Order: sequence, then structure tokens, then C-alpha cells
Amino acid sequence: MILVTGGAGFIGSNFVLDWLARDSEAIVNLDLLTYAGNLHNLQALEGDSRHIFVRGDIGDADLVTRLLAQHQPRAVINFAAESHVDRSIHGPEEFIQTNIVGTFHLLESVRAYWNALPQAGQADFRFLHVSTDEVYGSLNKDEPAFKETHCYQPNSPYSASKAASDHLVRAYHHTYGLPVLTTNCSNNYGPYHFPEKLIPLVIHNALAGKTLPIYGDGQQIRDWLYVADHCSAIRRVLESGRLGETYNIGGWNEKANLEVVNTLCAMLDELQPRADGKSYAEQITFVKDRPGHDRRYAIDAGKIEKELGWKPAETFATGIRKTVRWYLDNQQWAQDVTSGAYRDWVQRQYVA
Ligand code: NAD
Ligand code: DAU
Repeated sequence: MILVTGGAGFIGSNFVLDWLARDSEAIVNLDLLTYAGNLHNLQALEGDSRHIFVRGDIGDADLVTRLLAQHQPRAVINFAAESHVDRSIHGPEEFIQTNIVGTFHLLESVRAYWNALPQAGQADFRFLHVSTDEVYGSLNKDEPAFKETHCYQPNSPYSASKAASDHLVRAYHHTYGLPVLTTNCSNNYGPYHFPEKLIPLVIHNALAGKTLPIYGDGQQIRDWLYVADHCSAIRRVLESGRLGETYNIGGWNEKANLEVVNTLCAMLDELQPRADGKSYAEQITFVKDRPGHDRRYAIDAGKIEKELGWKPAETFATGIRKTVRWYLDNQQWAQDVTSGAYRDWVQRQYVA
């Protein structure tokens, strides 16, 4: 049995689905179901006794303590977070609350549970913290990609809150001996990605005949990784990662935002052409830049490749095609998540 937090969000639900498709080991899935959490993502698991869903907060020490005592997991994987940079700029407080204070309470509950385990259970136990490359800050065009030894220089309330949580996780290993692992991953894309993030937003808006908003000059660079590859890397680190270590995860796929959006438009032109015969690229609109916008992220994933033999299975070309097809086949999913609350967000971010 493992305990996963945030398993109804984008990466967490992909992880839970992948795990249960390959393994008989059960999962307790603790998720608060914020706007970003969606039980529809896990519909395929309905009636599957290996998936135990619990709605709740990682910061609720009584609840987490009870779950740990009841289910005796051999590992906790912490995906739960507020994850959208733009939202952290509009309102940082929830980011501080969940990503820092919530992770602290989770660590405290896990430490008490781990301390009470018999010696063999203590040795086998793992706390895996899922983090981001954004903690390293921004790179110039010619700087080498982030290695695990790169200094932390977070620039947004989101990345600062994730950096703080990484530091707490590290401290619980050094101070209390908690067997922790941390992963720092680049930008994911794939099924169940909430349409506030660039790739699903562009697909969703393109199909709805809306504008495709590009911040600033669109030359900001991100490294893109197909979500199933992130999940396989986490499984690998959980199995064989060295205690207390951090592992960078990335796709070796650096792309400028405008290039990503043009690729999406070309793919949609091919798979679902516009009725008027024009390209979706005509919908591209340059809008006001994100404050403090990081110019470039790039991940050196050499350590996880050398130490643990992990490599991504998808290139950007194969992963993005699968993604576009998934969104075309699952338009109802996008309709369902773009509720009233979603429309309020879009109004605030792009119109107000
Ligand atoms: P997401 O926003 O899609 O999902 C977050 C999930 O956490 C949601 O289901 C939400 O309901 C849940 N949650 C939020 N607050 C909670 C709380 N207090 N208690 C319990 N559950 C709570 O995020 P995502 O994109 O799936 O990211 C998952 C993790 O991976 C995050 O920690 C994020 O920082 C990290 N990460 C994301 C990316 C990416 O490209 N999306 C890349 C690297 C790392
Ligand atoms: O690098 C990992 C991070 O990737 C994760 O830690 C975050 O949780 C995840 O949200 C993501 O952060 P980004 O800020 O890079 O992702 P986002 O999809 O919001 O934006 C990608 C790029 O596209 C970024 O340079 C901003 C730009 N952008 C985004 C939106 C939503 C636009 O130009 N227009 C948009 O409308």
C-alpha cells in the first residue's frame, strides 16, 4: 500500500492510473479536490478496491495521522500543491498555505508514523516529494541546463513556495533521518491537464474559436516532458533512488512557447481543420507578459539516467500528437472542467 497526495490532479491522476495499470499494490489517494482536482480523471477506477479515495487536506494532521495508522503505507508520494504560476501572482496565500504549511504538517505526521514503525519498516519506508525545475530560477540562452547542484533562485510565489517545501523535506532527512527523495521536473503535458496551462489552454481555445494568448514575445523557453514519462521516472526513483538525494527529470525538449503553439495549430489544422479552411494560427494573439516571467528553463537529466537508468519514452513530436488526439477525443472532459469558476479565472487573467 502507498499513500499518494494530490492524486486527483493532472500528474497525480496520471500516476495513479499508470500505477494501478501495472501493479497490484493499492493506493490511498488523499486529495482536497480544489478547482484543480477532478474525480472524473479517475473514473476508470470506479469499483476497483485497490483505489481508496479520501477527500482531505495534507495539512490536516488528525486526518493524515489516522490514514497512516489505518493503512500502514510503505511510501508517501506528495503531489498535492497549488501549481499554477499565474494564480500565485494573483493570490499567493493558498500557495504558502498548501505548499509550505501543508507540506510541513504532512512531514510532521509522516515523521511520527515512521518513528513508530519497527526497524525493518523504517528502513523500507520512503517519502517522495514531487517538485519542479522552477525552484532553480531562470537561465540565459547560453547557460548550461539545471543540474541538481544548481542554486535555488525561485522567482514567483509558486516557485518560492515549492523551494521552501523542498528545503523542509531536505531538513527532515538531515535532522530526523526521515528517508526522503525529491524529484525536480520540467513542464509536463498530456491527458487531464487543466486548461489554465499553456498546452491545454491553446487546444481548448483553438477548438472554441477563441484567441490563443501568448505572453510577451513568446520566446520564453520551457523543457517539455510527456506526463507518462514523469510517472515512470517517479516510480524509478521510488524503487531505487538514493536516500536524501534529489533527481532532476526532463525531456531534453527545449522549445520556445511560440514554437509550441505553432506546432499545436499545425496539428489541429491536420486533424480537425477549421470550417473556413484557415489555420488556427490566425487565432494567436500577443498579450501582456507575466510579471517576473522566467525566460528559460532547461533540465539536465543526466543523473537519473546514469544512476537509475531512466530515459523518457516519448519525444516531443510523439507526445504532443498523443496529447492533441486525447483532447480531440475527450472534449467533454474539457467542457466539464471549464465550469463557472474556470470562466471567472479566465476573465480575471485575460480580460480584466
Ligand atoms: P494540479 O494543480 O493539476 O493538481 C494538484 C492536486 O493537488 C489537485 O488535485 C488538488 O485538488 C490537490 N490539492 C491542492 N491542495 C491540496 C491540499 N492542501 N491537500 C490535498 N490535496 C490538495 O498539479 P499538477 O500539475 O498535477 O502538479 C502536481 C505536482 O507536481 C505539484 O507538486 C507540482 O508542483 C509538481 N510539478 C508539476 C509540473 C507540471 O508541469 N504540471 C512539473 C513539475 C512539478
Ligand atoms: O517547469 C515546471 C512547471 O511548469 C510546474 O512546476 C508548474 O506547476 C506548471 O504550471 C508549469 O509552469 P509554467 O509557468 O511553465 O507553465 P504554464 O503552462 O503556465 O506556462 C508555460 C509557458 O507559456 C510560460 O512561459 C508562460 C506561457 N504562457 C502561459 C499561458 C497560460 C503563455 O504565453 N500564455 C498563456 O496563456
